[in-house]
Amino acid sequence: MAILDHHKKIETNATLLMVLSFLVVTVGGIVEIAPLFYLENTIEEVDGVRPYSPLELEGRNIYVREGCYVCHSQMIRPMRDEVERYGHYSLAAESMYDHPFQWGSKRTGPDLARVGGRYSDDWHVAHMEKPQDLVPESIMPGYPHLATTRIDDDQIEAVLVANRRVGVPYTDEMIAAAKADFRNQADPDSDFDALLERYPGAQVRNFDGNPELTELDALIAYLQMLGTLVDFSTFEPDASR
Ligand code: HEC
Repeated sequence: MAILDHHKKIETNATLLMVLSFLVVTVGGIVEIAPLFYLENTIEEVDGVRPYSPLELEGRNIYVREGCYVCHSQMIRPMRDEVERYGHYSLAAESMYDHPFQWGSKRTGPDLARVGGRYSDDWHVAHMEKPQDLVPESIMPGYPHLATTRIDDDQIEAVLVANRRVGVPYTDEMIAAAKADFRNQADPDSDFDALLERYPGAQVRNFDGNPELTELDALIAYLQMLGTLVDFSTFEPDASR
């Protein structure tokens, strides 16, 4: 009974109760929060995940600018219906170089986390021009201006530098080569070997079928790589973490 008596003392003394509650919350908070300051990384590293190539990154910026995230999420949750429809659930590492992340909070359209490789480039060209030509009941707006808006490489170095500032490991070499990599990825006749070394698995081709480098090239380069970096036939989650 003695312990109950002690407890009664605490319960009937508001000041003591508050002081002790504060102590408990403080200790609990320190235990949970302090280790995070000493860990380099709380995200499990996964083979294949790499920073975006300059062209993909530009496409991603266009995706953000156009507000595609208002209707599309990029996070497959580990639930059966989602995994059956969209593929392997999203890993934290797959969005570790996203600033800002594109998980989204609304799915007016389908999740796009693994849309890469699902359709041909031609499909995307036609779909961006006028979605209803391919999916008559679609409520997605067309973005025909992307196909006619040329992009140049003026900004691309600065975009990589900005991403490096917030933690994306772009090297000096990647930044020095940003302009060339940016153009070469959309030009299959270019010398793109070094690009592939810097960004393994990057897809090199004329994405919009038009000889000029347009915003649509960048956007399709981005869409076609989404969810393709990790090889899920060999991936095993690290159970020790
Ligand atoms: C108003 C909401 C809305 C906006 C904004 C929107 N979409 Fe969509 N999107 C949809 C809907 C609905 C569908 C399903 C019908 C279809 O395929 O058109 C879709 C389908 C898609 C698909 C095919 C996905 C699949 O798995 O079949 C892609 C790719 C896509 N959208 C890309 C984009 C991009 C890129 C943008 C921004 C430039 C964008 N969407 C903006 C609503 C939207």
